[in-house]
Amino acid sequence: MESNVNQVVNHNHAHRGKIKICDGKILATQSFEGEQHVMRVQCPEIVTGSEPGNFVHVKCSNELSMRRPMSIMRASPREGWIEFLFKTVGKGTDLLAKQQVGAIISIMGPIGTPFKLSGYRKKPILIGGGVGIPPMVYLAENMKRQSNLEPLVLMGSEIPFPFPLKPSQIMTTRVPSDAIAAMPLLEDWGICSRLASNQGYAGCFDGFVTDLAKFAILSSSEQNDIELFACGPTAMLKVVQSIASEYDLPCQISLEEHMACAVGGCAGCAIEISTPEGKAMKRVCVDGPIFEAENVIFGGG
Ligand SMILES: Cc1cc2nc3c(=O)[nH]c(=O)nc-3n(C[C@H](O)[C@H](O)[C@H](O)COP(=O)(O)OP(=O)(O)OC[C@H]3O[C@@H](n4cnc5c(N)ncnc54)[C@H](O)[C@@H]3O)c2cc1C
Ligand code: FES
Repeated sequence: MESNVNQVVNHNHAHRGKIKICDGKILATQSFEGEQHVMRVQCPEIVTGSEPGNFVHVKCSNELSMRRPMSIMRASPREGWIEFLFKTVGKGTDLLAKQQVGAIISIMGPIGTPFKLSGYRKKPILIGGGVGIPPMVYLAENMKRQSNLEPLVLMGSEIPFPFPLKPSQIMTTRVPSDAIAAMPLLEDWGICSRLASNQGYAGCFDGFVTDLAKFAILSSSEQNDIELFACGPTAMLKVVQSIASEYDLPCQISLEEHMACAVGGCAGCAIEISTPEGKAMKRVCVDGPIFEAENVIFGGG
């Protein structure tokens, strides 16, 4: 076995009871333009019980005591690894990017409330922006594998995408006909994806991913079948929230906040959420990171 579980964190929430800390071996790394990296780590105990929307808290290096949260992009229960995609933005992610294949890093997870996997409408649209792409990949794979749903995955980036672009072989009338670029991984799984950017990348929709999502909603003859799922920068999530409200669509979004403990103990990640009893403070790490979009109060306002 390539990993070693050295602690189990038990809490009241069912999903918190399954959080483990695991010393995982780095099996593979890939780097892309824009200081984006994909890392695959052996940690079978964390794969067991992980669901789309969950994240891991990663010890980037022995030099840093604080862990950094990363969404799970892929998880292989059969081979016992998880993969995450990250962008270098500061000290932690810089040190993580320097880790070599074969090194052992401490991973804590799976953490958080996952996307709700029951009661889907028939035509889910998954919207990922930048480093918000990973949870959409995990969710799309899960939808395809565990149900008869045909997710449409829309991704946006203003820096080169962290994968080579591929002209899609999966036809759809839900996007403009000149938007043909797709993510190879999703294409291989038979999942329809399309890419958006304002940077003029070949085959991509020219505009924001939210404009592409709006096109997909408007071009659908059965809007009542659509459900939205999104992860990305706050500006993108605000637009997704307003689109969901405008078209009266159910919508779950994944939020990011600064995190210290990531297991509900410090309240450092608390945000304001609208509940039936009024406004309440909720912790993004354990009450989220997935929330119903209509309940999220962005910027506390
Ligand atoms: C649930 C969750 C899932 C995430 N998933 C991904 C992912 O899949 N890929 C990815 O690239 N990034 C992801 N992030 C953001 C990632 O955790 C931060 O980029 C990282 O912690 C920055 O650490 P740093 O030391 O490199 O940068 P720092 O020097 O600490 O900070 C650089 C920038 O990152 C932001 N940041 C710092 N710490 C955090 C934090 N704990 N949470 C959020 N933002 C922070 C700061 O606002 C600052 O703008 C996720 C964050 C959360 C909360
Ligand atoms: S990070 Fe400590 S409660 Fe969420």
